[in-house]
Amino acid sequence: MQPDHVRIFDTTLRDGEQSPGATMTSSEKLEVAKTLSRLGVDVIEAGFAAASPDDLRAIKTIAEAVGVTGVEGRPVPEPPTICSLARAHKPDIDQAAEAVAPAKHGRIHTFIATSPIHREHKLRMSRAEVLKKIGEMVAYARSFCEDVEFSPEDAGRTEMDFMYEALQAAIEAGASTLNIPDTVGYTIPGEFGERIAMIRENVPGIENAVISVHCHNDLGLAVANSLSAVQNGARQVEVAVNGIGERAGNASLEEVVMALHVRNDLYNIGTQVDTTQLTRVSRLVSKVTGMVIQPNKAIVGANAFAHEAGIHQDGMLKHEETYEIMRPETVGAGQTQLVLGKHSGRHAFANRLTELGYPVSGDSLDKAFARFKKLADKKKHITDADLLALVSDELYQPTEYWKLEKLQVSCGTGMPTATVKLTGPDGQTQTAAEVGTGPVDAVYKAIQSLVHVPCTLLEYTVQSVTEGIDALGEVSVRVSPHDDDAPPDKLNPQYEHSRARVFHGHGAHTDVIVASAKAYLAAVNRILAIREAKQKDSKAAGSAA
Ligand code: KIV
Ligand code: ZN
Repeated sequence: MQPDHVRIFDTTLRDGEQSPGATMTSSEKLEVAKTLSRLGVDVIEAGFAAASPDDLRAIKTIAEAVGVTGVEGRPVPEPPTICSLARAHKPDIDQAAEAVAPAKHGRIHTFIATSPIHREHKLRMSRAEVLKKIGEMVAYARSFCEDVEFSPEDAGRTEMDFMYEALQAAIEAGASTLNIPDTVGYTIPGEFGERIAMIRENVPGIENAVISVHCHNDLGLAVANSLSAVQNGARQVEVAVNGIGERAGNASLEEVVMALHVRNDLYNIGTQVDTTQLTRVSRLVSKVTGMVIQPNKAIVGANAFAHEAGIHQDGMLKHEETYEIMRPETVGAGQTQLVLGKHSGRHAFANRLTELGYPVSGDSLDKAFARFKKLADKKKHITDADLLALVSDELYQPTEYWKLEKLQVSCGTGMPTATVKLTGPDGQTQTAAEVGTGPVDAVYKAIQSLVHVPCTLLEYTVQSVTEGIDALGEVSVRVSPHDDDAPPDKLNPQYEHSRARVFHGHGAHTDVIVASAKAYLAAVNRILAIREAKQKDSKAAGSAA
């Protein structure tokens, strides 16, 4: 039976996390998974269990916390399917099976490359060997899990006759979802749609399986290719929030969902997603991955509903549909309102956060409220944008191994000097002063002289959250540690040292130098959090051996 809607398979936590710098901590992954569940996605690809014990543990935690009963506010009764990727190798499949086991609906997604270039140069396997592997490994995955998805990697460049054979082998071995990845983003919409139509016509047994697509955006066509596939019978689309993912990314979740929603007249099929949550999910993913959303990004960009030209504004005032094909509220991008001020109480503050999709309580609420009060002393009107910056700065940060206590900077045409006081992992406070080429450089040098996590600053951006001289400044940084011992290539862990790992951090404050210090410390703390998880894993592996 084919589903009556297009299944949304979200791979933000797997393919999305493969974007350089998008490394998330386990608690951030859990937060994203909960939000995806509230959004109503059908499948959450929570990671690649064999990549590291930490990845396996993160998937398992998500399977337990989100995959058993879903989460409050999920628009559909069943919890999402929790999926782990696995190469067509027994040890990968064993780990994927262990990771998804706690979920009510668990799925193993196994893949092997099928294109001639991959068979010849990467796998060094013949067609017959690849087919044998598919049959064996899909059957092996089925021995653990009823729900098995198979992907012929680089399907976009695979010969059609061989693709039919590969898919047939997977169906015969028990795969119920067949995913067609355009791994390198090579195809164009008409061609990709035709491939899907040909698969439907030529693969025996395909009518009993769900056809899925997984498109990369190297030519900027991932969404267009996915939609073309839907028109030709695909009933699952693999997407990532904000379109993040390997290289140019994956098809963007919000764009696919809204295209199917707005042009339902054409597609006659929709999704189960609650579109009013899209902006919220997009912001959360941007915060925890450090991947900034371009202002003109469709659906969730800051300018997506901004009308600048006078003629457009005039039209909008007369009738919204003159220049608007969807309402901002439909994607949860309501007008920013002046909401709270100095005299607002804790209750009103908590209520507004809940309305914005951040239901905070207890300790987190106390901390966020204390920050809000401080901000309200400096800034008269606090908008939703301020609240979101503040709450994400407070709540979506890695464990604070190092905490900023005080910062003093003197700058001008002389020698910019910074003095920082930090509390370290041992609870002791330490102070250091350094001279730099500018105030931020001086601050970063002073921090480094205490934390000793040498890294190169790859990117530094500062933006104001709202207008006005008293606006909060938000700083994002991306850094690459010098002594990162094993940056893993997630899909090919054997190429452990193939690329430098990038870590991000963000900080918000009315003083941009303080925001800069906080962002840098957040990146340092992220490096330390990931290292600690890795050390725990090696210790556990050592004591198990
Ligand atoms: O792009 C790709 O081919 C993938 C597969 C593992 C599905 O991410
Ligand atoms: Zn991919």
